[in-house]
Amino acid sequence: MKEKIEALMAEINDLKCKKEQEIEEARVRLLGKKGEITRLFEEFRTVAPELKKEFGQKLNILKNAAAAKIEELKNAAEESADSKEASFDYTMPGDPMPLGSRHPVSIVREEIVDIFRKFGYDVAEGPEIEDDWHVFEALNFPPEHPAREMQDTFFVSESDNPVLLRTHTSSVQVRAMEKMPLPIRIVCPGRVFRNEAISARAHCIFHQVEGLYIDENVTFADMKQAILLFAREMFGPQTQIRMRPSYFPFTEPSAEIDVSCNICHGKGCNICKGTGWLEIMGCGMVDPNVLEASGIDSKKYSGFAFGMGVERIAMLKWQVKDLRNYFENDLRFLKEFETSI
Ligand code: DAH
Repeated sequence: MKEKIEALMAEINDLKCKKEQEIEEARVRLLGKKGEITRLFEEFRTVAPELKKEFGQKLNILKNAAAAKIEELKNAAEESADSKEASFDYTMPGDPMPLGSRHPVSIVREEIVDIFRKFGYDVAEGPEIEDDWHVFEALNFPPEHPAREMQDTFFVSESDNPVLLRTHTSSVQVRAMEKMPLPIRIVCPGRVFRNEAISARAHCIFHQVEGLYIDENVTFADMKQAILLFAREMFGPQTQIRMRPSYFPFTEPSAEIDVSCNICHGKGCNICKGTGWLEIMGCGMVDPNVLEASGIDSKKYSGFAFGMGVERIAMLKWQVKDLRNYFENDLRFLKEFETSI
């Protein structure tokens, strides 16, 4: 019996199973109903009385050692299972990164600019915070001119020479005429600001693209042709334009341009309100006063200018009904332009 106890003790000390199933098998083999230690306890009944004390103690130590070892192996197995779960599998495919998309206003602004680039226009930009001279005075809006009222201005400071947020990108024309060599052929994309109540049809921030072409002998017919070509590039080769007389202080004569409705092709629908035409921009021949204010000889040079709202063109292109969608950054709206990256 002594040898058996010693042999089992050695076996228990060496026990190295890792899998839960193996540990369970070892437990059954040692401590189960028919296990080796259980069997030794049965054998113990036949041990001579004078040896009972010694073997009794040894058997109890053996049984406790076996139970402790099994417990220890079980804990180790559980721990390693836990740590396997917690550890990161670097070979797993990653979660897809949500991709952003171009904003519809950027898409259309770039499209407009690209069309004019193809026609040989350069891109010019100017400051959003401007002075009265570049936004109004040099564009033939004298101080008391009623047309200033049409553009509800945000003033940054109202001194003798007020600082303000530009109400239109026409201010960039003035900066270009003041410093660029002639001839000038530019488009000026940019953000503009007006003190308007925000609604589906008006916003206090929006974007414009301004155009300016100044050279010798530039005529109204050149302007008409440039705008017709632009309209066909932008809205399709069948597009027609029409001009309605209008008024801007900085152009004479002035016109407003309509394009034939690209939804109903002139038949009349709810987008064009049954007229078959959509208004897209203002334009005109640069007023000689404006040329002179920037130091250009109006006897030698003439030119045309035009200005359009980027949000308006985008609205026509995609039938967006509410201008506020452009500024709210609602992903459900922006996602509609996902394919346009
Ligand atoms: N600046 C005008 C506006 O904001 C748009 C405009 C009209 C620009 C006619 C022009 C132009 O250059 O010729 O309403």
